[in-house]
Amino acid sequence: MSNILQLQEVKKGFRWSSGLIHQKVSDNKGIWAVNDVSINIKDGKSVGLVGESGCGKTTIGKAILRLFPSLDSGSIHFGQKPKCVFDYSMKELSEYRRKVQMIFQNPDVSLNPRMPISNSIKEAVKIGYKQANKRELTEFVNMYLKKMNIDPKRVDNYPDELSGGEKRRIGIIRALAVKPQLIVADEPFSGLDVSIRNHILSIFMKIQEEDNVTFFLISHDIGVLQHLTSQIVTMYTGRVIEICPTTKMIAGQAVHPYTKGLLAASQYDLSITIGWEPSRSDTGGCSFHERCYFYQKQQTPKRLICTNNMPLLLPVDREHWAACHFWHEM
Ligand SMILES: Nc1ncnc2c1ncn2[C@@H]1O[C@H](COP(=O)(O)OP(=O)(O)O)[C@@H](O)[C@H]1O
Ligand code: SF4
Ligand SMILES: [Mg+2]
Repeated sequence: MSNILQLQEVKKGFRWSSGLIHQKVSDNKGIWAVNDVSINIKDGKSVGLVGESGCGKTTIGKAILRLFPSLDSGSIHFGQKPKCVFDYSMKELSEYRRKVQMIFQNPDVSLNPRMPISNSIKEAVKIGYKQANKRELTEFVNMYLKKMNIDPKRVDNYPDELSGGEKRRIGIIRALAVKPQLIVADEPFSGLDVSIRNHILSIFMKIQEEDNVTFFLISHDIGVLQHLTSQIVTMYTGRVIEICPTTKMIAGQAVHPYTKGLLAASQYDLSITIGWEPSRSDTGGCSFHERCYFYQKQQTPKRLICTNNMPLLLPVDREHWAACHFWHEM
């Protein structure tokens, strides 16, 4: 099975602003929001991304969509194209942005406040259904509204006249109507009530199966990811610390102590495990050591291995990787 998207050692930092002085992340004048992240997404095999707030999930989503002028290093490749998406011409970029859609955590980002909802949806449907005539376009718009349980009378309204849940669903319609190959969905269910969440999830599952759309689904809720994804990537302080098949993860076979802690403590809902801001200072070792139960139980020699050496992401088995020096001893 071929890759639809490949992130290779992607690094993206943000500098603390200080007037005209050029600050460097490497001089501790900022943070690496995403640090050496490599992820492969195979065509038709959706991938989930979990991790607590601030670990770099949205930055990865934005990097995939090329919403930054550049990366600090690394590359992102779409399909079989040898060019990194950051090297695309404007024409290549616009074609790419049709094939890869993003559903934003904040729906206001993708809706024009001065455009009635009907026009926003039509704009997307026209891209996805190029051959359709005027009457067919209206039919497609109505089909999507029905799919998302939106009252057709609401489409003459402007975004600020809609509820948060309605705006979220309009954002989803816009992404689906373009008929993309890959959808990057950033916390698409947060703040929605359970019945709407389940409804949207079932639509995602249907289009994944019927229209061969692949998802890169960012969520706090592993319970949601299990229905749609084949593989779950866990991030901590900007780095990938585990890549695990979804079935193994749900069966409690994740091996990294952070992933295991998330699953055990939260009953799959990561949002309630956020107790404190993890340290992002780069000591050269494992950034999780202050919270790691295994590390806390060890004597100095093992502790030094954890604090002085960055654990690499290494195979646990053919489809499972973890970045921990001692997972096999736990
Ligand atoms: N535009 C920005 N400028 C400065 N810092 C940013 C910016 N965007 C994100 N960050 C920082 O990068 C880190 C990762 O952010 P983000 O990718 O939004 O995390 P998540 O989506 O996992 O909550 C956070 O510490 C955040 O404060
Ligand atoms: S490398 Fe060490 S500190 Fe980090 S998770 Fe593994 S045991 Fe814990
Ligand atoms: Mg985010």
